[in-house]
Amino acid sequence: MSRSIQDELQEISNSGLFRSTRLITGRQSARISHGGRELLMLCSNNYLGLADHPALAKAAINAVEIYGTSSGASRLVSGTMELHELLEGAVAGFKRSEAALVFNSGHAANTGIIPALVRRGDVVFSDRLNHASIVDGILLSGARLVRYPHNDHLRLSRLLDKHRGKGRALIVTDGVFSMDGDMAPLVELVALKKAHEALLMVDDAHGSGVIGSQGRGCAEHLGVADGVDIKMGTFGKALGSFGAYAAVTSDMRDLLVNRCRSFIFSTSLPPAVLAASLAALELVQSAEGDLLRDRIHANAGYFRRGLVEAGFDIPDGSTQIIPLITGDSETTMRFSEELLAEGIFAQGIRPPTVPAGSGRIRFTVMATHDLVDLAWAAGRIKEIGIRLGVV
Ligand SMILES: Cc1ncc(COP(=O)(O)O)c(C=O)c1O
Repeated sequence: MSRSIQDELQEISNSGLFRSTRLITGRQSARISHGGRELLMLCSNNYLGLADHPALAKAAINAVEIYGTSSGASRLVSGTMELHELLEGAVAGFKRSEAALVFNSGHAANTGIIPALVRRGDVVFSDRLNHASIVDGILLSGARLVRYPHNDHLRLSRLLDKHRGKGRALIVTDGVFSMDGDMAPLVELVALKKAHEALLMVDDAHGSGVIGSQGRGCAEHLGVADGVDIKMGTFGKALGSFGAYAAVTSDMRDLLVNRCRSFIFSTSLPPAVLAASLAALELVQSAEGDLLRDRIHANAGYFRRGLVEAGFDIPDGSTQIIPLITGDSETTMRFSEELLAEGIFAQGIRPPTVPAGSGRIRFTVMATHDLVDLAWAAGRIKEIGIRLGVV
């Protein structure tokens, strides 16, 4: 007899990996309501606070009044709405690319773009810590997956040599690594992609809106935006909306429209979401966007220093994602529970999201946090760390 659902659930529980969701009432802000209490949110990707910004809400409401609630079907079936085109024009302007294509989510972008570009006989070189949606895209493509050690461009260079001449080569990396908060060595990756005539795709889900001038992302920040063939980013994190984009050449866009199954076979983004994303792009390129970025970088530096001074061994990094490594799954979940009891909402991250033994609390800092709250949180975290033997 095949295994029962109950047995499988028991197996997940026994390995300390059972997951469930926690109910939040009200908005996604720096403070949230959970279980009748107000908590400090320290794990949201709403980095700039735009999920709660009146300009985005107003744009979404206006769009519903003008265009209704749904796009009706895939864009190849019921048509592209004006807002899709407006948003793609705005993305191309923001990323300084020839063209852009929007997707229903970052996951849909990665699982659509990668199989559109590579197939059996091709090779994808993927950083070992890349996001799961990238790995899913590679597996779906049928191309050979060659994983290189995290950010190790020297090793990548040797692997590219080893696989030279075996079909199309695609190098793919997170821009800011989602669970570690460090940045990919894009200067070196661009040099390698040129030397090996490979394509380079950067998933800047966590850099878009936050890193670089006007929030244009990691590649822009490192001065190599022109060397990246597929600049993917998401609207659901710093941009406070939902969906994703690929900033590419016009030819590449045509290819994606023709080959991306997640674009072809899925109802497209609805008007409210498109309008909120448009408003977000305008906002991140304004003086207010600069102010929010100044705040998030200052807050992240302050909180990071607070944890280091408390005695935690925080991995190097300079972004708003600050991992506190707790180790095994049991300690990780106890840490998260104790944070909740103290009034801090920050989830434990366990395998398979991160490698075995590297469970962590993935703290994320927002532009809308204030320093008093961050100092208070660092103090509470220190006490828990001492209690659990993590510090
Ligand atoms: C690096 C990275 N890429 C892609 C995604 C998926 O994006 P989305 O949440 O829009 O599906 C995420 C996060 O969820 C991510 O962290």
